[in-house]
Amino acid sequence: MNKLLKQSINFLVITFITGSYAQSKMHFDQSKPIEERITLLMSKMTLDEKVGQMNQYNGSWDFTGPLPESGSEEEKYEHIKKGWVGSMLSVRGVKEVRAVQKIAVEETRLGIPIIFGFDVIHGYKTLSPIPLAEAASWDLEAIKKSASVAADEASASGLNWTFGPNVDISNDARWGRVMEGAGEDTYLGSKIAMARVKGFQGEKLDANNTIVSCAKHFAAYGYAEAGKEYNSADMSTSKLYNTVLPPFKSALDAGVRTFMNSFNTLNGIPATGDSFLQRDILKGAWGFDGYVVSDWASIKEMVTHGYAKDGADASAKAVMAGSDMDMESHLYVKELVKLVENNTVEERFIDDAVRRILRIKFELGLFDNPYKYCDDVREKATIGNKAINEAVLDMAKKSIVLLKNDSNLLPLKKSGQKIALIGALAADKNSPLGSWRIAADDNTAVSVLEGMQQYKNNQLVYKKGTDVSIGKQLFVQEVKINSDDFSGFEAAKKVAKSSDVVVMVLGEVGFQSGEGRSRTELGLPGNQQQLLEEIFMVNKNIVLVLNNGRPLALPWAAENIPAIVEAWQLGTQTGNAVAQVLYGDYNPSGKLPISFPRNVGQCPIYYNQLNTGRPVNKEKNVFWSHYIDVEKTPLFPFGYGLSYTTFKYENLKLSKSKYKRGETVELSVEVANTGNLDGKEVVQLYINDPVASIVRPVKELKGFELVELKKGETKTVKFSLTDAELGFYNNDGDYLIEEGTFNIMVGGRSDKGLTDKFELK
Ligand code: BGC
Repeated sequence: MNKLLKQSINFLVITFITGSYAQSKMHFDQSKPIEERITLLMSKMTLDEKVGQMNQYNGSWDFTGPLPESGSEEEKYEHIKKGWVGSMLSVRGVKEVRAVQKIAVEETRLGIPIIFGFDVIHGYKTLSPIPLAEAASWDLEAIKKSASVAADEASASGLNWTFGPNVDISNDARWGRVMEGAGEDTYLGSKIAMARVKGFQGEKLDANNTIVSCAKHFAAYGYAEAGKEYNSADMSTSKLYNTVLPPFKSALDAGVRTFMNSFNTLNGIPATGDSFLQRDILKGAWGFDGYVVSDWASIKEMVTHGYAKDGADASAKAVMAGSDMDMESHLYVKELVKLVENNTVEERFIDDAVRRILRIKFELGLFDNPYKYCDDVREKATIGNKAINEAVLDMAKKSIVLLKNDSNLLPLKKSGQKIALIGALAADKNSPLGSWRIAADDNTAVSVLEGMQQYKNNQLVYKKGTDVSIGKQLFVQEVKINSDDFSGFEAAKKVAKSSDVVVMVLGEVGFQSGEGRSRTELGLPGNQQQLLEEIFMVNKNIVLVLNNGRPLALPWAAENIPAIVEAWQLGTQTGNAVAQVLYGDYNPSGKLPISFPRNVGQCPIYYNQLNTGRPVNKEKNVFWSHYIDVEKTPLFPFGYGLSYTTFKYENLKLSKSKYKRGETVELSVEVANTGNLDGKEVVQLYINDPVASIVRPVKELKGFELVELKKGETKTVKFSLTDAELGFYNNDGDYLIEEGTFNIMVGGRSDKGLTDKFELK
């Protein structure tokens, strides 16, 4: 027997006899309840090791390659080996994840597994539509499925935690991250938050094809003033409770296990250091027992905000306010031990955070099998497989919104047509991937050109007209559309002139929305508007296909172009989805989840505004709430979207005209498909409480149903309203249900519908 083996056996015998080995491994005993396992493990952890669990680093090098030898990368590597890293972000792929996990599990004193986070925002490697686009489907089952296939693909690649869903409500098209949420409405946003959490986390968190989800950004990030990225938010308590918080609560009700706080200040306090948000509401009133991760370096940024005097002060404020894990500030690992030792921070704050983090790791089953997401065979079989592509194609079709279709220019005839396809984005295979696509390979989307080429009985001629230029900023691509090169215009015009129909794919490049991409102009970027108008001069039969990550303001197009299709950035299967809609193989049913303004000056514009004292032009003078240069209504309202068929609403009926509080208000409406095709319609229910102790919105969505109707078919759609829909929060955060009249409206868009009213006693 060799010497080493002998020594090991001796060690095992001795430790078993003394019991310490058995004890040190007791937290691995799966028959014990998780809380007991956490207690056992924590009793062995040094303060350094506890703080280590609260530290998250970005994986900035290739772990299966050469080891980092200097700088912060070397430090990170050393910290992993010491057990000072509880989580890594953006390490991905089975080989890489396994390599890091091996260090944590096999080389650190306690072998605590690492949790691997990643921004699975709309798919992992195979991309689904951007979240705003998915929201336009109003199809909760499809959205849930989309999150679950993303979880399947990401988990097959070693990951077990997504930084999603983004549940920020935002009504400001200038803000680049509107693409990442579910739009402007709290009710719709709450339902979608729930669907996404359920999709990511599935039935069982410890299954190897589900991942932990994270509701972000807590809170009010979407209300960045003037739509400027990272800007401050200021709002009343009632607005916070009524508008911003419900999607977070809904995510929690769906079982979300982590939250991420946000970069912004809310009423002067950085969210990362806000104990009202994180301790009082989230962990107090709502009883959340998972953990909160900071946003990237947001702990450090509290110094820049002017809320903390240095890194130590920021760490103390953040941890006491309830930020459990430090994403890339490198501050907890540096400061927290000292802060406890010099009695600035009580150790109970550390213990609470660590318990929360370990809880999720136990729930994931990482202690039972730290390599459960590291299966090369599954990775190979899953990434980009047929089922995932089918699911993202289905989601992409459901996300498309038909904004205009004069004289039924759409669907296109399938044969005998000469079709000109124009626009830099029409052949682009990169832009449709959107801006959260870190794991996707460049240029892997099906372009609109490729999608349309599948329909072979027409003559299709492509001319780009203008071009996308790609530069490189630090870390990210800088992309734009030409503004001063008109050399492609003539060729495009020539083809357009001799064609039956012109399909123009215009809008924003995928990287023109998303984090850090706020805009102050909402028209078509570059020279695309000019291209559109010049093509229109030679052929008016234009179908405008929009690609964009935010509402655009396109009044000229809305007035002049006969057919407009909102196709956002639809992910990997973009071209197939667009072509199937253009050719009528799929009848669109999407509805806008956010209002489209007439111009940027209207922003923020949203349907559920409060009434002013002068909402209409009663006296026929200038002193009423309006603009003197443009109508005050949006160009396309929330909830709006057409179909290739038509729907008629009739017989709105309330079960009674008077209800008591606590009783359920039942109502029904008949919806008929009056056109010539089968189709789907999103039937929407809005309420208005015209007299209340706090002024209530002119309309609020409180129910919707996606109904499939064969041509000629009529269905009765039923809704119910309970206290949960009829009340609101006041400025003390109390939920009130007040008696009085309620107006209701049911229809296929937020600005029109059948109306009725009832009394609540
Ligand atoms: C974003 C987060 C994201 C994080 C990690 C931050 O800049 O605000 O939403 O999860 O980076 O990538």
